Amino acid sequence: MSPRGSLFIMLLLVLVICLSSLSSKQSPLLDSSAFSMALDTLQNQINYKFSKIDLLRRAMTHSSYSQENNKALSILGERVIETSVSLSSLVKDIDITAKDLNNKILEVSRVETSCAFDGLQLGLQKVVRVSRKTNSSTPAVVCGSFRAIFGAIAIDKGNSDDAGSVFWYVHGGGSGRAMAM
Ligand SMILES: *[C@@H]1O[C@H](CO)[C@@H](O)[C@H](O)[C@H]1NC(C)=O
Repeated sequence: MSPRGSLFIMLLLVLVICLSSLSSKQSPLLDSSAFSMALDTLQNQINYKFSKIDLLRRAMTHSSYSQENNKALSILGERVIETSVSLSSLVKDIDITAKDLNNKILEVSRVETSCAFDGLQLGLQKVVRVSRKTNSSTPAVVCGSFRAIFGAIAIDKGNSDDAGSVFWYVHGGGSGRAMAM
């Protein structure tokens, strides 16, 4: 075969490899720019701009999609929310009973009524990256990504205070919805 012919075959091979890698994940080129736009919108909604956008990217990635995912961030986020609720409750009323405080924490941590509700309000089910087999609207997925946002902010800022403020902004209806709870 002529050198030109083998070059042609090589180029063809490269093209085939590129195309097959593109089709394996619903055209990542298109997806990634849509995803970036969704992350911009989300930052506007929560009124917080990340210094390290990769953290928000990770917060919006479910474990079914990638090894690099939001699982650990969502644990931190849950703690941030609980700390923030405890802090504000005690600042308001230093005599609050342990039972009342625990109830307030439980209320805000409840998956169906609180964090999935807040997450759906933000439209996270449309942003979070999941595998094709995973339903991104389930409370577990929405809650995990909602909580991970606050974990991600805490890491971005190196403290949990700002993450707590963003939580109140979102939970209190700052993103445009009426005070529902
Ligand atoms: C995805 O989950 C939501 C919430 O649990 C549910 O309402 C919806 O029917 C599910 N969709 C599919 C395709 O299973």
